[in-house]
Amino acid sequence: MADRPVEALTQREAEAELAHLVQALAAANLAYHTADAPEITDAAYDALKRRNAAIEARFPGLKRADSPSDQVGAAVADGFGKVAHRVRMLSLENAFAAEEVAEFDDRVRKFLGFSGALAYTAEPKIDGLSLSLRYEGGRLVQAATRGDGEVGENVTENARTIADIPQRLTGAPDVLEVRGEVYMSHADFAALNARQAASGDKAFANPRNAAAGSLRQLDAGITASRPLRFFAYSWGEVSAPLATTQFGAIGRLAAMGFQTNPLTVSCDGPEAMLAQYRLIETQRATLGYDIDGVVYKVDDLGLQGRLGFRSSTPRWALAHKFPAELAWTTLLGIDIQVGRTGALSPVARLQPVTVGGVVVSNATLHNEDYIAGRDSKGQPIRDGKDIRVGDWVQVYRAGDVIPKVADVDLSRRKGDAQAFVFPQLCPECGSPAHREDGDSVRRCTGGLICPAQAVERLKHFVSRGAFDIEGLGAKQVEMFFKDAILPVKTPADIFTLAARDADNSLQKLKNRDGFGETSAAKLFAAIEAKRSIPLDRLIFALGIRHIGETSSSLLARHYGSWEIFIQAIDSAADFSGPDWDELTGIDGMGEVSARALIDALHPDSAERAEVNRLVGQLTVQPVKAAATDSPVAGKTVVFTGTLEKMTRAEAKARAEALGAKVAGSVSAKTDLLIAGPGAGSKAKDAARLGVQVIDEDAWLRLIG
Ligand code: IVH
Repeated sequence: MADRPVEALTQREAEAELAHLVQALAAANLAYHTADAPEITDAAYDALKRRNAAIEARFPGLKRADSPSDQVGAAVADGFGKVAHRVRMLSLENAFAAEEVAEFDDRVRKFLGFSGALAYTAEPKIDGLSLSLRYEGGRLVQAATRGDGEVGENVTENARTIADIPQRLTGAPDVLEVRGEVYMSHADFAALNARQAASGDKAFANPRNAAAGSLRQLDAGITASRPLRFFAYSWGEVSAPLATTQFGAIGRLAAMGFQTNPLTVSCDGPEAMLAQYRLIETQRATLGYDIDGVVYKVDDLGLQGRLGFRSSTPRWALAHKFPAELAWTTLLGIDIQVGRTGALSPVARLQPVTVGGVVVSNATLHNEDYIAGRDSKGQPIRDGKDIRVGDWVQVYRAGDVIPKVADVDLSRRKGDAQAFVFPQLCPECGSPAHREDGDSVRRCTGGLICPAQAVERLKHFVSRGAFDIEGLGAKQVEMFFKDAILPVKTPADIFTLAARDADNSLQKLKNRDGFGETSAAKLFAAIEAKRSIPLDRLIFALGIRHIGETSSSLLARHYGSWEIFIQAIDSAADFSGPDWDELTGIDGMGEVSARALIDALHPDSAERAEVNRLVGQLTVQPVKAAATDSPVAGKTVVFTGTLEKMTRAEAKARAEALGAKVAGSVSAKTDLLIAGPGAGSKAKDAARLGVQVIDEDAWLRLIG
């Protein structure tokens, strides 16, 4: 039966075969996961799964309740399952200039208090998408995309179709998460696009998009037909260390059967790193796949551990990107976009042009000074040349960075070209747009009455690092914002939507264009799922100027709960007193962001009333400081004087990793002052306030 083409099957045959496939796949699963001896090869297993999916696609009515397609890891109809990464998947700090490499090395050595030379690895930065592969007992059990770094998508079935990804490993630790990049070669990309064109499908813009589109297919059969490749360069959870150096660990991954990049070398310092950068750059065009820079990593894994992480990037690695790509084109017009904080941003509308493999038709022009040819201090940029509609302009694109207009060719300017006049009124709501002293940005003063600000705030509110509501993206937000019957004008309105829909007997959401019974119910369920939200996400979602993901997470970890946070902000509102000192004392929170926070949440403002209305709809989950079982978790500590066993930066990073809050000054809220030799006024403050003072050795004994 299985040899017959799916198109030739009768309904009865199809039904019988589906019943047979369910049993065959269940038996194979059992043998694979519990016994040590799989009964069929992985390829045969995949073939059975694909045949099952193909029959289901032809006879949707015959799909069984126990269909193998719906099992964990398999493609599910409404998207991929979620996978919480046990070790976060981070991104990399970027550098463009050669000087930044020496600065990186200096920073690393300073953090470690190291005066000698340090070894680093240097390897190509592959331009694909990262993937985490989990092996247990040497078998591939799960593959997940990066997602937001904490939660990714389960693409196990798809990953199994990639030839470079071993299904079994020999000599691997019991638990091993291998991380690396999925990519497509230039040749395979060209052939795929030719096939797409032949079948009337859309071409992919570049190999990275093709790789991402191919991996994120609900039907693993499609992924299997796309020639994806994989380079391993890192790891997540491991039950036993792979090696003592990065270079050694990569060697072990290669020995286990992974492809590792042949241009990976170990270097004894910045000069050797730059030499490898130049070598890789000369080979870039002939490698046969896209790379966009070189990644440097501290070679000693013990030192990597000491260096640790910032909020989303490791301190021990740097991505040295290749120079940006350039192109020239005509500036067709300048539009003004109003952002969520009211900033008026000029956007260049361009005659579409290909820049480094991507078609660009919009680019940023930064702000009015930039268009006029001066910087924020009034000094000329581009030799003082302004930019006018109709000009021949240079467009610049570096990696994922938003393209920008970099230069203008005055020799091609038309005689009648007019200088651009930047609007003084908000183009969206007509409110005056002001520039504060020292601010390069003109801002609409309309606040919540400005529809552009309101919509942008909503878009930010539902975005990935914020509430991340499935099925409620930028497009839907715009639709609901304009809806006459079920309008969503503010974040709180999102959480009253279902109740308002229930009351609305005349026109329910399910009867609208683009919605049906299922999709409406699904949207309400997705909203309901986010009614309970962690404090850090809530703070970030409010979209307050200067309060990004990092500050939001600092604030959440510091205050722990919404009640304590908002009370502290309220009592810091006069910019003085212990709560103000505490807020500005949070390491990483400057005075500017503290002021922005207080201004945005001012108790008498309309904005605050909205925030209260929102919080009234939610259950805000408290955020615990890291490592709650450490003896210093939740304690506020201050370091002063000279530390002898580690640098100040390392001491601070370690304390934070153990859940302590590190403050810059001693206040009544300080629990502990760690004082090295030469401690001055802070020791006196501590004595006056009765704060416990210990020396560095006592601190090290305390944290073990
Ligand atoms: S290491 C903890 N090495 O670049 C550090 N990343 O911009 C983990 N990437 O998300 C990353 N080539 O997807 C590393 N040789 C390489 C890489 C590489 C490409 C990607 C990776 C990462 C992104 C950050």
